[in-house]
Order: sequence, then C-alpha cells, then structure tokens
Amino acid sequence: MESYKVHITIAIISVLIFSPVAHGWGVDAHLTICRIAQSRLSEAAAAAVQALLPASANGDLGSECSWADNVRFRYSWSPPLHFIDTPDGLCSYNYNRDCKDENGVMDRCSAGAINNYTSQLLTYGSSSSKYDLTEALLFLSHFMGDIHQPLHTGFTTDRGGNTIDVYWYNTRTVLHHAWDTSIIDTAETTLFNSTPEGLIAAIQANITGVWVDQIKAWETCNNNVTACPDTYAAEGIQAACDWAYKGVSEDSKLGGKY
Ligand SMILES: *[C@@H]1O[C@H](CO)[C@@H](O)[C@H](O)[C@H]1NC(C)=O
Ligand SMILES: *[C@@H]1O[C@H](CO)[C@@H](O)[C@H](O)[C@H]1NC(C)=O
Ligand SMILES: *[C@@H]1O[C@H](CO)[C@@H](O)[C@H](O)[C@H]1NC(C)=O
Repeated sequence: MESYKVHITIAIISVLIFSPVAHGWGVDAHLTICRIAQSRLSEAAAAAVQALLPASANGDLGSECSWADNVRFRYSWSPPLHFIDTPDGLCSYNYNRDCKDENGVMDRCSAGAINNYTSQLLTYGSSSSKYDLTEALLFLSHFMGDIHQPLHTGFTTDRGGNTIDVYWYNTRTVLHHAWDTSIIDTAETTLFNSTPEGLIAAIQANITGVWVDQIKAWETCNNNVTACPDTYAAEGIQAACDWAYKGVSEDSKLGGKY
C-alpha cells in the first residue's frame, strides 16, 4: 500500500515536472530571445515596455519571458497557443489549414496568438484600451520565441517531436525537448561559460556583424502588416524537416554533428 502511494506521488510529481515544459522553449532560450529583442526596440517601444513590465522584472523583459509557461494551468485556454500542428510528413504551413486547436477552433495556435496580442498592444496609449497589456506583452514576447523553435511548428501525430524518444548524448529525452533545452544547454556549457549572457553576446555580435545585411528583411513584414507570424511558422516547419526531424527515428542517438 505504502509503495503504491509512493509510486502515485512520483507519477504526479513527474507530470508536474514534465508537462509544463512539454511544449515550451526552455527558460534560457526565452530569456536570450527577449534580451536581444529588448535591446533593439525603438525609443517609443522601449518606453512602452518599461511602463508595462511588472515591477518584479526590474526593467528586464527577459526575466518575464517564461511567464506564459507558468500560467498554463491558471489559464487553461492558453496551452494550444504555444505551438502549431501541421500535417504529418508535409513540410509546409498554411494558416487556415493549421492554425486551430485540437477541437478545430480557428486562430488557436502561436500564429493566431501573435496576431491577437499584437493588435491588443496596438491599443497602447488609447484610454479606451480594454485589454491587460502587461499580459499581452508577456504572451507576445513568449510566443515570438516559441514560433522560432522549429519543432513548435511540427507534425501533428508526433506532437512536434514530443512522442519521439531520443538520446541527447547519453541522456534520455524526447526530440522536442532536445530542441527546447538540451541543444542550448550544451552550447552554453561548451562554448559560453554555462550562462545565457555569453550566448546573447555572441548572437548580438552576429546581428551587427555577419548577419547585418539580412537583418533589414527580418525587421519588417511584407505587405505593410505589423506582425507576420505566418512567415516564421513556414520557416519553422521547413527548418524542422531540414534539420530537426532529418535522420531521426525512435531511440536515435543525437549530439555531435547532429
Ligand atoms: C486573445 O487574447 C485573449 C486575452 O488574453 C484570450 O482570451 C484569447 O484566447 C486570445 N486568443 C488567441 C487566438 O490568442
Ligand atoms: C555567428 O555566425 C557564425 C558565422 O555564420 C556562425 O558560425 C556562428 O555559429 C554564429 N554564432 C551564433 C551564436 O549564432
Ligand atoms: C501602410 O499602413 C499604414 C497604417 O495602417 C497606412 O497609413 C499606409 O497607407 C499603408 N501603406 C501602404 C503602401 O499600403
């Protein structure tokens, strides 16, 4: 009887530990993305972010960029907004076909959420705004990270690699988690002194260095729209096919060249 209880307790703890990250880019990834984004805001946008951030952030957007993962239970409607399920084996994305939740409700995916929170934030400064713009900012910042993790736009049946068991070096994990966390952790440990700061500095150096010519195209959307999550999602599933899923099967040993 006692050991039965212990097993149940372990099972519950495992669920609590593992399910919140099932679809979430790791904490360091979100922090990295938001620190870089914050450093590149226009003066007006930077001031709005400062006004909207909770005091606990101490002015650092990065420190709040995993908030959306922490409210998955409190906001039980929010989990589908973290990812996009695309048809198995097709390396393409289409908003009308794919941006819906398991029940087929349209717009309930990361691209729909980015559009949603972008239009909410565009009401900033208007006295009639009826939205919680602090929450809108934290959701938008988080989903902009999620949508850039290739497997957050992934095949439906394997839930973006969540059901594919693999080894990352000698550690057992699932493919999705390898891309959320393991790859970044390994890069930080081996190249950047085990902290996000080194990774952030290296990416910043590339943004002003080797990538400088490409950056302009990343900074604006085509067709005069403010948000273009469909571009990111289409790139995401293509990158998932070209890199993340490529050559991977159940129990694959990943690391090194992969
Ligand atoms: C839009 O934002 C509101 C407020 O947070 C939320 O209730 C709704 O589910 C969101 N819809 C989408 C598609 O993101
Ligand atoms: C910076 O760019 C170089 C050259 O393309 C690349 O090898 C390196 O991985 C990049 N660093 C980061 C942190 O992305
Ligand atoms: C782009 O959008 C702005 C704001 O909605 C509008 O004033 C402008 O006319 C648009 N420009 C074009 C070329 O459509």
